[in-house]
Amino acid sequence: MPFSTEKSRQIYERTLGVLIEASSSSSRGPANFGKYPIFMERARGSRIYDVDGNEYIDWMMAFGALPLGHAHPEIVEAITEAATTGAHFATATPVELEVAEMLQRIVPNAERVRFANTGTEAVMAAIRLARGVTGRPKLLKFEGHYHGWHDDLLVSSNVLPPSALGLRSDPIKIPDSSGLNRTALDDTIVVPWNDLPALQHAIENHPSQIAAIITEGIMANMGVIPPADGYLRGLQELAKANGILFILDETVTGFRIAPGGCQEYYKLSPDLVTFGKALGCGLPVAALCGRADVMDALQWGGVLHYGTHNGSRIGMHAARANLRVLTRDNNASFRHTWRIAERLCAGYRELFKKKGRAVVVQNVGPMFQLMFTDQPTIRDYRDFCQFVDRAAFQKFVLSLFPFGVYFSPSAALHSIVTLAHTDQDVDLTLKAAGKALE
Ligand SMILES: Cc1ncc(COP(=O)(O)O)c(C=O)c1O
Repeated sequence: MPFSTEKSRQIYERTLGVLIEASSSSSRGPANFGKYPIFMERARGSRIYDVDGNEYIDWMMAFGALPLGHAHPEIVEAITEAATTGAHFATATPVELEVAEMLQRIVPNAERVRFANTGTEAVMAAIRLARGVTGRPKLLKFEGHYHGWHDDLLVSSNVLPPSALGLRSDPIKIPDSSGLNRTALDDTIVVPWNDLPALQHAIENHPSQIAAIITEGIMANMGVIPPADGYLRGLQELAKANGILFILDETVTGFRIAPGGCQEYYKLSPDLVTFGKALGCGLPVAALCGRADVMDALQWGGVLHYGTHNGSRIGMHAARANLRVLTRDNNASFRHTWRIAERLCAGYRELFKKKGRAVVVQNVGPMFQLMFTDQPTIRDYRDFCQFVDRAAFQKFVLSLFPFGVYFSPSAALHSIVTLAHTDQDVDLTLKAAGKALE
């Protein structure tokens, strides 16, 4: 049967009068998918099925929210148990304590834990806490890093023409949205990443004003860009020397790069760390963890943090089962995802070379992205904006769909290997990619 997404097209037509961009987030709609998105109906393991009955190997995995793949039996069981005994109480619950204790064991700096629902919320709590504890107004973030859709940090995180960025020594702050509080970004300093002298210069320019430096451990919203050797440690030292809190945003890298995330992998000791995505294995669970003396300021009368759905029972049950599976057999799941990713990335490198296509495959463990570029490597936001051919990537990804392989078509995002992916998935994907390139 020829590949058809006719039913998706029909559903898309229906959405036009009711949903904006056919969905609930701009990254899922026509801006990324061309004419219309594919409507997905069900999934299991590494496979996802659309409304037309097409099967795909899913390397997007809900933007990283499914470290065990789809419908893992232990997650299904955990959710079912919670659903049948009460999905959420908004009271203190023992399961919340259990998950917090698990985080204490797994995450090096987690002296205290506070749960939220999304990465955005965890980051919002972290920056309010940093401002409250230090009594300082400013936040320092990096070009091309995304920390959620709240006002304070929504700047210079979209891909833009290089001519719009200003000088490296004095980047132009470019708001990512209309409708932002006009003053919210006054206190946000934007600095190029992977550049310690630039960071030092920015800190010197704002003595005793910066509450926190926030960074992704691995850039995951400009493809995949690893930190330069020693960069994050250097950042940490500069923060400490200047009384600035170091917030490591592990919304993407948490429970993915290593059990303790980038913090463990790069041997860091951030003051605060935020998690989201992978923690709930498909349920909206996020967490803010960190040093006791900082976190304790969240107590009533200090820095306010509320949320009706925080620590929902159903989410906590999912997170508990997820962490159990992820860390089972001495963290075997991490060894699996790293091994599968290395095979897939090596296969891609070989394929693109054979086909004479200028594509760089960048990955750190299970996070990978294909960068359509003639550069040998992409090392920051400016490189990405200047040298990555996003249209070519999108064309390639859309041409994979008929061969049963699903990636996010946005070059600025990335793909994910999960516990559910197999060697056979790698072989099928590489075969499909070979056909798509033809
Ligand atoms: C590094 C980082 N921080 C925070 C967020 C926001 O997380 P959420 O979409 O759960 O609000 C994202 C989302 O992609 C992210 O990549």
